[in-house]
Amino acid sequence: MKNRIYYFTGTGNSMRASRVIASSLGDTEIISMRTDPEEVPATECDVVGFVYPVYHWTMPEPAERFIEKLDINPDAYVFAIAMPSFICGFACERLAEILKGKGVTLSYGDMVNSVANYAIVYPPFPSPKLRVPKTEKKLKKIAAEIVLKTKKDYPRASRRVREKFDSFMGPYLEIQVYADNPFTVSDDCISCGLCTRVCPCSNLTMENGKPKFNHHCANCMACVTSCPKRAIGYNITEGDRKLLDASGKKTPLVKIMGLPKRRKLYRNPYITTADLTKNRE
Ligand SMILES: Cc1cc2nc3c(=O)[nH]c(=O)nc-3n(C[C@H](O)[C@H](O)[C@H](O)COP(=O)(O)O)c2cc1C
Ligand code: SF4
Ligand code: SF4
Repeated sequence: MKNRIYYFTGTGNSMRASRVIASSLGDTEIISMRTDPEEVPATECDVVGFVYPVYHWTMPEPAERFIEKLDINPDAYVFAIAMPSFICGFACERLAEILKGKGVTLSYGDMVNSVANYAIVYPPFPSPKLRVPKTEKKLKKIAAEIVLKTKKDYPRASRRVREKFDSFMGPYLEIQVYADNPFTVSDDCISCGLCTRVCPCSNLTMENGKPKFNHHCANCMACVTSCPKRAIGYNITEGDRKLLDASGKKTPLVKIMGLPKRRKLYRNPYITTADLTKNRE
């Protein structure tokens, strides 16, 4: 029997969840979706899991792209765990749709509310001290169900999310290519290159001793929260705000973006920055 979990993570919640489930399953490979999917096919696996955050009420785009290219055993027990802070939206539905296109059935789907990590929009909430133990508890319960190969229907988007998705999130997703325009790097940068190694999207390269943002950013927050000098900031100018606001109506998220110097940053307490540089374990 071969068990495999694929995860996408910015700040460690999804990696931690993968580890908790893997330790219950035993003998499980854990692979980051930053790997080339063609190098890690799941054709020989009996149990296949996908764990990922929720971005803008759906799956992170790099996770979608990875799974679309991944070969999967159609007879495998396949599970999905979405890790939103509150709103799961289409995150499981979208995965089920991609799998269906490959002739694969999603046997088990669930969501686990986690600490919200979008540092360039808000401070971590709810309080990690309170939320992390609750998340851990639910993960253990889910892990026990997965060990038994329980079937569970995945969560669907609410009617309100369905009605609002296109106007609220659609424009922002369309112009994701500009999402890293407002990032700044201060003179506190010590050229350590850690930000380039934690980025799950290979979006950062070192140029003249500083990271350069190459416009395929998922806004995952790994670089922001991992920098040992807190040198990465986010300075959204009126020009960038216009670029990010494809609808021209200042969508709610774009309106409130910014990263005050003193804002608290979040990384899952069980995950180190070294963990975030890994491709597999
Ligand atoms: C770009 C971005 C968009 C997000 N959108 C949502 C969302 O639509 N709904 C939600 O509940 N949480 C949202 N979050 C919060 C994350 O889904 C949540 O903090 C997640 O647990 C982070 O997982 P990670 O630590 O594995 O990266 C968003 C976070 C980011 C960075
Ligand atoms: S992690 Fe911070 S200090 Fe290190 S290279 Fe990146 S911006 Fe500079
Ligand atoms: S550049 Fe930073 S925020 Fe963007 S994907 Fe890479 S680590 Fe995440």
